[in-house]
Amino acid sequence: MSPRRSDHLALPIPNGWFAVAWSRDLVPGEVKPIHYFGEDLVLFRTRSGRAVVLDAYCPHLGAHLGEGGRVIGEGIRCPFHGWHFDADGRCDEIPYCKRVPPAAATRSWPVDERNEMIFVWHHAEGKPPDWQVPDMPELSDPAWTEPRFFEIEVNVHMQDMAENNCDPVHFHFVHGQPEIPPQEVSYSDGGRTMHAVSRATRETPFGTFDTELWRDTWGLGLAAVRLTGIPGAGLLMYSSTTPVHERRTHSRWLFTVSRNLADLAGEEFIDGLMQGVKQDFRIWENKIHPRRPVFCEGDHFLGEFRRWARQFYSEPIASIPEEA
Ligand code: FES
Ligand SMILES: [Fe+2]
Repeated sequence: MSPRRSDHLALPIPNGWFAVAWSRDLVPGEVKPIHYFGEDLVLFRTRSGRAVVLDAYCPHLGAHLGEGGRVIGEGIRCPFHGWHFDADGRCDEIPYCKRVPPAAATRSWPVDERNEMIFVWHHAEGKPPDWQVPDMPELSDPAWTEPRFFEIEVNVHMQDMAENNCDPVHFHFVHGQPEIPPQEVSYSDGGRTMHAVSRATRETPFGTFDTELWRDTWGLGLAAVRLTGIPGAGLLMYSSTTPVHERRTHSRWLFTVSRNLADLAGEEFIDGLMQGVKQDFRIWENKIHPRRPVFCEGDHFLGEFRRWARQFYSEPIASIPEEA
C-alpha cells in the first residue's frame, strides 16, 4: 500500500555540531535571539570577542535575554531587572541584592567558532562534544578567493537534505545530469566521518584532467565538497545544515576557489548552483519520510547512508528496509 501523510516518520533532532550564525554577522557587544533545535536561545558576542549561546529565558521571571538584553563585559544583562549572567550562564550579579541564589543560572551551550561560522553542540541527552569541527585550511589561504556566502531555510528534516548527497540517482532525474555518477564511499574516525568520491575526466581551460570530486561529511550537519586533480587549482564548497526544529532546516554554505580559477567561479557557476538547490527544494518541501520505504537493489547507497546516520541519534531510528 502506498504511504500516506500519516505514515510520515518524525525523525528526532540529531546530535552534533551545527552552525547557528555566520561569524561576520556578530560583532562584539551584539545580541541576537535565535531559534534552533526547537529551543529559544540567545546568541551574543562578549567585549573580548567570545561567541556565547545561552537558553533564552531568564531564570528570574522569564524575560527573553535576546530581546533587549545587553552585553556587559563577558556576560549579558537581563533587560527586565538587570540580573547579569556570565558566559557559562551563571548569574554573577543582582544589582539590587547582595546574595545570588544558587539556582540563578541558565544553560550555556558548547560553542566552537571556525570556518567563518559559529557552531553549537546539540546533544539530546546533554552529553559534551566527543569530536571537534575540522578546520578548512583553504579559508585562511591567500591563494584562494574570498568566500561567497549562501543560506536557505527549508521545511524538511535535515536528514532528508543530507541524504540527497548520498543519492546518486537523483542527480540524473532532478538535476538533469546525463548519467548517474559512480561513487565510492569510505569512512574514518571510527566510522563517524564519511568520504565519498566520484571520478570523471573533465575539460578545463588548463587542459583535460582526470578529476576527483570528494565529499567529506562530519556527522549529519557538516560537509565539504572538493574538486581535485587539476594541478595547482581547486574548489571548496563547505556547508552546515542546522535543525530549526524537526520539520525545518537552515542550511548555510560557502564557496571558494583557488585564485587561478576565479573566472570559473563567476556568476554563471553560482547561478548553476542556485538552480540546483531550487530543483531540490520542491522535492524537499513536499516529501514525507515514510516509515517503511520500499528500496530496490540499486538503492544500496541510501541504505548505507541511513545505517551510518543512525549513530547521530540518541534514540533508535527505523526507516531502513531489510533488503537495503
Ligand atoms: S526576568 Fe531577568 S532579571 Fe528579572
Ligand atoms: Fe540535489
